[in-house]
Amino acid sequence: MRLLVCGAAGFIGSTFVRLRLREHGDQITVLDKLTYAGRRETLQDVIGEIRFIHAPIEDAVAVAEAVAGCEAIVNFAAETHVDRSISGPEEFMVTNMQGTHTLLEAARERDLRYVQVSTDEVYGSIDDGSFTEDSHLEPSSPYSASKAGADLLVSSYQHTYGLHTSICRGSNNYGPYQYPEKMIPLMILNALARDQLPVYGDGRNVRNWLYVEDFGRAIGHVLSYGGPGEAYNCGGPDECENLAVVGRIVELTGADPSLVEHVTDRPGHDRRYSLSSEKLQKLGWRAQTRFEEGLAQTVDWYRENAWWWEPIRSGSYRDYYERHYGRALRA
Ligand code: NAD
Ligand code: TYD
Repeated sequence: MRLLVCGAAGFIGSTFVRLRLREHGDQITVLDKLTYAGRRETLQDVIGEIRFIHAPIEDAVAVAEAVAGCEAIVNFAAETHVDRSISGPEEFMVTNMQGTHTLLEAARERDLRYVQVSTDEVYGSIDDGSFTEDSHLEPSSPYSASKAGADLLVSSYQHTYGLHTSICRGSNNYGPYQYPEKMIPLMILNALARDQLPVYGDGRNVRNWLYVEDFGRAIGHVLSYGGPGEAYNCGGPDECENLAVVGRIVELTGADPSLVEHVTDRPGHDRRYSLSSEKLQKLGWRAQTRFEEGLAQTVDWYRENAWWWEPIRSGSYRDYYERHYGRALRA
């Protein structure tokens, strides 16, 4: 296919591009603003096989240029970190909602297939059982609210204009090339450096972990087989409490368990996410990677790819880390 993939200099989008080039031979244009979370290095191995445009998705002129000749838009572009959305929500509204609107307009003008990459966080927290696609959207953070707003806008373009849109709601992803503000890469890099491991609150929050290649293939599956106006949950095979995840990282890295430090909890911290993926499984997708295996591969990847993360750890990330964790970890 000829695809416009937005936000593919980030974690999941870059994985999707790699999979599509290798497994489908697609022609791909990437549009990315290159925020702190987006880096050309992340696409280094495939940069010669794609067209790359450096621009934000809310720039309608750049989007029009990028989308020329494409059959479909797949949108990964977003501000994605819950903690940053709590300390500064504005950019989340601009990129996640206004930017999605700009892309939908471009799709509508050309009658293109449109796939929105979304998250289980739009449903909010669930103590027992699992969310289905019919569950209410009850987002808790500015991040998840902006993603829920985008989902509703996407659905409205199908309902109002008959655009063939689909939404993929993934659970927490992990794997290579994830920016180390997110829990798993943060804990791996801190454990390798023998730094403290800052666990929010009691550490009993549960996440449904999904290996990034499994999510990439789920999105490809929805692109091929997703019905118009349909949303699809894409959950990982394993749920795990944060403390258990950190404990396993400690074992895999040989770090000292006393590095685990309980710090002040995140405001409005969702207790548990859980998805039923039955709808997408009926279309033939299934997550392949168990958490135990994927986590070990991920630790190995970070161990072997310091070229990718060292420039991040020594740049503006250090200021972010100090602002966000410094005082709590010194207390
Ligand atoms: P990421 O933060 O690693 O990458 C985001 C990318 O979007 C970066 O390349 C960044 O430069 C780009 N970007 C940001 N603002 C932009 C703008 N205005 N215009 C163009 N590009 C812009 O994110 P990720 O973890 O790869 O997430 C990708 C998508 O998947 C997001 O929509 C996110 O909500 C969703 N998602 C993420 C997870 C997860 O666990 N990480 C789970 C489910 C869904
Ligand atoms: P995160 O990776 O930020 O993903 P999300 O908030 O989108 O689920 O966090 C995953 C879990 O880990 C979440 O319960 C918050 C917790 N967490 C910590 O305990 N310490 C940390 O330093 C971070 C970043 C997250």
